[in-house]
Amino acid sequence: MAQIIFQGYGAHKELTQILKKMAPGKIFLVTGKKSYTSSGAENLLRKALNIYNCYRFDDFQVNPTIQEVEKGVSLFKSNDCDFIIGVGGGSVIDVAKSVSLLTANNGDPGDLIDNHTRLSESAVPTVIIPTTAGTGSESTHFSVLYIGKTKHSLVHPSMLPDITILDPGFTESLSPRITACTGMDALCQGIEAFWSVNSTEESREYSRQAIKLALANLISAVNDPDKDSRQNMLLAGNFAGRAINIALTTAAHAVSYPLTSYFNVPHGHAVALTLPSFIKFNYAVSPETLNDRRGVEFVKSKIDELVKIMGADSVSHAKEKIDFIMESIHLETQLSDLGINKEDIEVIIKNGFNPQRIKNNPRNLTEAALRRLLEKIL
Ligand SMILES: [Fe+2]
Repeated sequence: MAQIIFQGYGAHKELTQILKKMAPGKIFLVTGKKSYTSSGAENLLRKALNIYNCYRFDDFQVNPTIQEVEKGVSLFKSNDCDFIIGVGGGSVIDVAKSVSLLTANNGDPGDLIDNHTRLSESAVPTVIIPTTAGTGSESTHFSVLYIGKTKHSLVHPSMLPDITILDPGFTESLSPRITACTGMDALCQGIEAFWSVNSTEESREYSRQAIKLALANLISAVNDPDKDSRQNMLLAGNFAGRAINIALTTAAHAVSYPLTSYFNVPHGHAVALTLPSFIKFNYAVSPETLNDRRGVEFVKSKIDELVKIMGADSVSHAKEKIDFIMESIHLETQLSDLGINKEDIEVIIKNGFNPQRIKNNPRNLTEAALRRLLEKIL
């Protein structure tokens, strides 16, 4: 089913009509602990929500675990809810989508995770309202969950939320640091989807939009935000979400998960640490290291186009441009600046090799190559 997207300042007002039409019995409202109030969402959504029965669920961490989602599923059921609204950042959205899918699929959630063939039922009707700009999770059919420190995924077509409301007003109170991290996630997801072995004409068009919008707006959204930069970053994140919804992410995302779970580097920042190096790495693809069955020339031509989209004249220049953006938005570019040392690199390598995500990368990545790449950014 295609997703309905409302966007622009004031788009949250659409919720009243949406709820009137969908007539929920009781709403399971998934929110962040603080962001629901600090984003202004609580205030602005009160009018639309106060005529409905709502159960609010915010009892989970930034990198949500399967146990937390299981708790959400059982509270959804014990409170007789029949509708989900998720209002928050990437974690909140992932919890809302996961509860939606797992509630509709009876069974042990722990048994269903990563076991996509067993997921068949459609999800509970879901409306998603992001309060950060960048993850794009409001427009993907998968979610990220942790078991211990290991990242897992839930994937099912019915996880694509029915409706999303992109109202930049909710992102206006974001701190510069969160704007920077989530914005880099948008830029990196756009780039990774562009060179992914799964890219299509459609996904690459979403990527182009995401990359252009992020490059033109991220620095101002962090350092001197105005209505345009907030709106454009929310759109950049959404386009990037739509791009990875088709093409998925690649090596920089695979390597990012242990950086987040073992070293507490926020997701977008963790991805951005290695992405600039992967531009050069992927461009040096050869017939022996090729993962994309469309051929070496195809991969190189796409990276050539990427370099152009970025307004650069070589892969080195494109890398420098991203490094420059990261410096401008005050994100560390070296692992040692984040307290990660040479011995820690082995933890990242050991836990950063998700076979599927590495396979999406146009050039095969070996442990030795990843070690070299990480040592260069030490
Ligand atoms: Fe991401």
